Amino acid sequence: MCRICGGAVSEFFDFGRQPLSDTFLRADEVSGEYFFRLAVGVCEDCSMVQLLDEVPRDRMFHADYPYHSSGSARMRNHFEQTARDFLDTELTGTDPFVVEIGCNDGVMLRTFREAGIRHLGFEPSRGVADLARADGIRVLTDYFEESSAVRIRESDGPADVIFAANTICHIPYLGSIFRGMEALLAPDGVFVFEDPYLGDIIRLNTFDQIYDEHFFLFSVNSVRTAARRFGFELVDVRRLPVHGGEVRYTIARTGARPVSPAVDALAAEERDRGLIDPATFERFGADVKRICGELVELLRRLRAEGKRVAGYGATAKSATVTNYCGIGPELVDVVYDTTPAKHGRLMPGSHIPVRPASELAETRPDFAVLFAWNHAEEIQVKEKAFHESGGRWITYVPDVRIT
Ligand code: SAH
Ligand code: TYD
Ligand code: ZN
Repeated sequence: MCRICGGAVSEFFDFGRQPLSDTFLRADEVSGEYFFRLAVGVCEDCSMVQLLDEVPRDRMFHADYPYHSSGSARMRNHFEQTARDFLDTELTGTDPFVVEIGCNDGVMLRTFREAGIRHLGFEPSRGVADLARADGIRVLTDYFEESSAVRIRESDGPADVIFAANTICHIPYLGSIFRGMEALLAPDGVFVFEDPYLGDIIRLNTFDQIYDEHFFLFSVNSVRTAARRFGFELVDVRRLPVHGGEVRYTIARTGARPVSPAVDALAAEERDRGLIDPATFERFGADVKRICGELVELLRRLRAEGKRVAGYGATAKSATVTNYCGIGPELVDVVYDTTPAKHGRLMPGSHIPVRPASELAETRPDFAVLFAWNHAEEIQVKEKAFHESGGRWITYVPDVRIT
């Protein structure tokens, strides 16, 4: 049943039994590993693309949540620029108040703290919330939802901007989020969020954007319908080049803001491209199978030739690739990553060991599968020596290739 409207959800792909994508295991945790069925479908009534089964939120977001938003220089710049844009546009009144849902280590709120702007981050994962706090940022270690939003409205007054990046798509209980908006958002305030865009996922076959945390895959059509259902209006949309293609949605109280022509334009483009058409999802499923087949065939061939293949970027996305395609330590012997919290741990499900990225240069495998393909430019510049010394990158977005 659709989490937005209660309509029937028509399943279009089943990835089978999958682990928690951000749970990097110690050796003694392997036997107790949690699995769930990762399947994705589209609502026949409101067109929202969503998972069929939900993982309880506390299993995903807890004190040891290992994802650190500040790990990418490009993303640091992206969020600094986003904050500066708000300072120039929405936050020019007296004593403005900005709230972030899922502030993680404070990558975005940092700029507001420096500018002396009243701010608050909601962040249920204590480890990353503590990092933000250590940076002087005001954080509530809690989920944003109706009850917590009501409490903050009472203590802090209305928010001019409520922002979220790569977080709203993690939240199945969207009704509670919008009731929280109703309570906390100023009459003329905006709720702005950015998430991976269904249009880009389908266009580039980035099936690894589908994992436990990504409960919704948003499109302009589905977000517009959801906003209306909860008493709000989608007033602007903008495509973003980060994380393989995202859309930034701006939502306001109904009638409070003029609606940009960009909304109708992108919604029409989605219809023209068949983004609500069952045939599109069938084609996507066939492409997922083809890409996995090609990737595994390549890895097997390289191993048979005696080559050593590593992975780069212990991303949440890579859990879907390794576990669905059946890639374990026999094909990719180690995954390099810059996140200290992931070092010495095993990748979820596949149990490939994670090692510090600095070891890529020391051990110099023949090939490295670029699991963090969304950071390709940044990583390939940083690891120039790997390529110059003859190492080659393997990518699978949008197709399997050696570069
Ligand atoms: N905004 C950051 C972090 C994205 S990761 C970025 O774009 O890089 C998603 C974050 O959302 C996690 O840190 C998780 O703990 C947090 N989160 C999950 N559910 C939440 C909720 N209901 N309210 C606030 N944060 C939530
Ligand atoms: P990311 O693709 O941002 O997100 P997700 O986990 O949601 O799929 O994750 C990037 C991962 O890649 C993260 O674990 C840090 C790592 N990384 C590097 O190892 N080197 C780098 O230069 C960058 C930018 C990231
Ligand atoms: Zn629906």
